[in-house]
Formats: sequence, structure tokens, C-alpha cells
Amino acid sequence: MLNNFCHFEQFLEKRKENGTLRVLGQKREGIDFYSNDYLGLAKNDKFKNLLLKKVLENPKLLSGNTGSRLISGNSFITTETEDFIAKEHQYESALLFPSGYNANLALFSTLPTRHDTIIIDEQIHRSVHDACKMSHAKKLKFKHNDIQHLEEILKKQKEVCYIAVESLYSMDGDMAPIIQIVEIAEKYNAGLIVDEAHAFGIFGYGLVEKFHLQEKVLATIVTYGKALGTHGAAILTKDIIKLYLINYASPFIYTTAPHDFLWMSIKTGYDFLKANKILSAQLQEKIKIFREQNIKSPSSENSPIQAILLPDNQQLRKLRENLFESNFLTYAVFSPTVKEGTERLRICLHSFNTEKEILGLTKIVKAFI
Ligand SMILES: Cc1ncc(COP(=O)(O)O)c(C=O)c1O
Repeated sequence: MLNNFCHFEQFLEKRKENGTLRVLGQKREGIDFYSNDYLGLAKNDKFKNLLLKKVLENPKLLSGNTGSRLISGNSFITTETEDFIAKEHQYESALLFPSGYNANLALFSTLPTRHDTIIIDEQIHRSVHDACKMSHAKKLKFKHNDIQHLEEILKKQKEVCYIAVESLYSMDGDMAPIIQIVEIAEKYNAGLIVDEAHAFGIFGYGLVEKFHLQEKVLATIVTYGKALGTHGAAILTKDIIKLYLINYASPFIYTTAPHDFLWMSIKTGYDFLKANKILSAQLQEKIKIFREQNIKSPSSENSPIQAILLPDNQQLRKLRENLFESNFLTYAVFSPTVKEGTERLRICLHSFNTEKEILGLTKIVKAFI
């Protein structure tokens, strides 16, 4: 019987040969140019102490929530946090999830029916692809940030269409032309869904809020594992869609609700962000220093994610190791996470990175490109 399972070993061997085998390493010590902790909240002592104080005042926050939210797990703090988030983002409703991955699974596997079409930007996050696999809807891709291509596809569709984009893309670090996409979605009556995982906290609450597009976007996803330094996510949408998800979204229904500590840390995170707007300004200063080094990159001018394309896998590995030897932690991204030929060094900038660190990093990078 075991012969039936030889392919696992073969596939892993292939990855080993290509040098793309994924293994779990311990967290490394070093200068952080790879985490999503853009504003340093995950290591901010003031933020930690605020959370600690709340836990000491109410240790029940750490207790399990004992069941699905539809059974025994819907605490007062969960609904209070959702109401707070909806108000902050000027949406009718918010629905919380333990992660952005779960939120995307719920949204895209539930709203589009078998008669509908989901049109995704080719660089959309994996969670949306996985959600599409759970859905019976047809999936079509448009070229990254290519409005004309999106319109060509929309023109040909007779069914109800959903469009899926990120506002700030996680691999290229570039932004969607969100205003034009909204216009096209309106023109073709398509439901636009915007994933703001990387924009939330960096550009205010994200681009939808920045450009006042709430009424024109069917749903927005914000996640709390990046700029907010905790984890979890919210779908921001209309009351009716929230109710629909509560009724039909398996990733929401058939799972135990997280403990209230998570929801409390998210609510506290919002308060902390509001009181510390300086952090996103500091981040922009650091991005500016990086950009002044004139390293070629497809990333946007003010993006905390700066990608440097280096399709030679060996060179890329060597660059990452050279950086590591100098204590710089970066993330080299290989296929299949990105398309073959677009392998890259992904640099994440943070409010806490110093000018000296950024110059040290870019000096090594420049020797490779
Ligand atoms: C664009 C995007 N959406 C969703 C997710 C998933 O969010 P989470 O890490 O909270 O599961 C990520 C995570 O990297 C992301 O980059």
C-alpha cells in the first residue's frame, strides 16, 4: 500500500534538487528587514504593557471561547469589537476572523455562486486562489494591475462578476489603481473586493478609506497580523452580506471562536495606532532613505515592501546569505511562491529600521545587481 505514496518523496526530492525545499527554521536574531511588523507594534513595550494591563484586569480574556460563534463562542467583546471596527472604517458591518487567510476563504468561497465569475488580479494572494477552489464559480485572471485587460474580460461576461484585488501587493509592493478599478467595477456592475492586508495601518486604514470608496466596494479585508502586530482579520461590508456569511460561510461557522484576548488586542491596536500616528510617518522616512539609494524595483515609491528582482536562484541565495552574515534578515522569494523568472529579494522596511541599517543593507544589495 505504501507504494501508492512514493510521489510525496519524489516531489520533495525535486524541491531539494532545485534548492526550493521549504523547511521550518527557528526565528533568527538579526536586523529585521523581513517581517510584516511594519510599525514595530509586535515588539513595542508600551503596546505590550497596555495588553498586559487589560489581561490583569480581566484574566477571562485568556479563556477559550468554548465553541463556534453560532453556539457558545460569541462574547460581548467580539460583537463590541466588530461594531467598533465597522464604525472606524465607516462601513455598516464588520465580521472578525482569526486570520486573513480564513477571511478570504470565507468571502470568496461563499458569495460567488456556481453561475458567477470571479476575476482575480494574477498576483492576488494565495488565500483567494484557495477560496476559489472551494467555490463553484468560474475563475478568470487579469494581468497584474492591467485595467484594459480587466475591462476586456468583463465585457465578455454574461454572469454576475466579482473582482478581487489587493490595494498594496504583497510580492511586488506596488499599488492597485484602485480608483480606476472602482470605476470599471461600477460600469460593469461587478462586485469589487479589496484585500488591504498590507495597506492597513500604513496608509491610514487603507486605500478604500483614504479615497472614501466604502460605498463602491462590496467588501474590504483588513488583517491585523501585519501593521497591527497581532493577528486576525475583519471583513468590512454591508449588514446583509455579514448576515449572509454568518449563515453560509463554512470557514466562519464550523470553527471554534478565538479567545477574547485576540479581539481585545485588535481593539487596543486601533487605539494605539490612533495615538501613535508618528509611527507611519517614521516608516515613510525610512522608505524614502531606501528609495534614495536608487535600487531598481517594481515597488511603489511609498511602499514598505520593496522587491528586488534577481531571477538567478543561486545569486539570490548568495545575496540572502551575504546579508545574513552581516546580520540583515531578508526574505528571498522563489518559484512557486512567485512566477519562475521573477524570483526576488523582498525587503520589508519598518519604522524602527535605522538609516545606518538601511545604508548597510543597500550597500550589499548593490554589489549583486
Ligand atoms: C494580501 C494578503 N491577504 C491575506 C493574507 C493572509 O493574512 P493572514 O496572515 O492574517 O492569514 C496575507 C498574508 O500574507 C496577504 O499578504
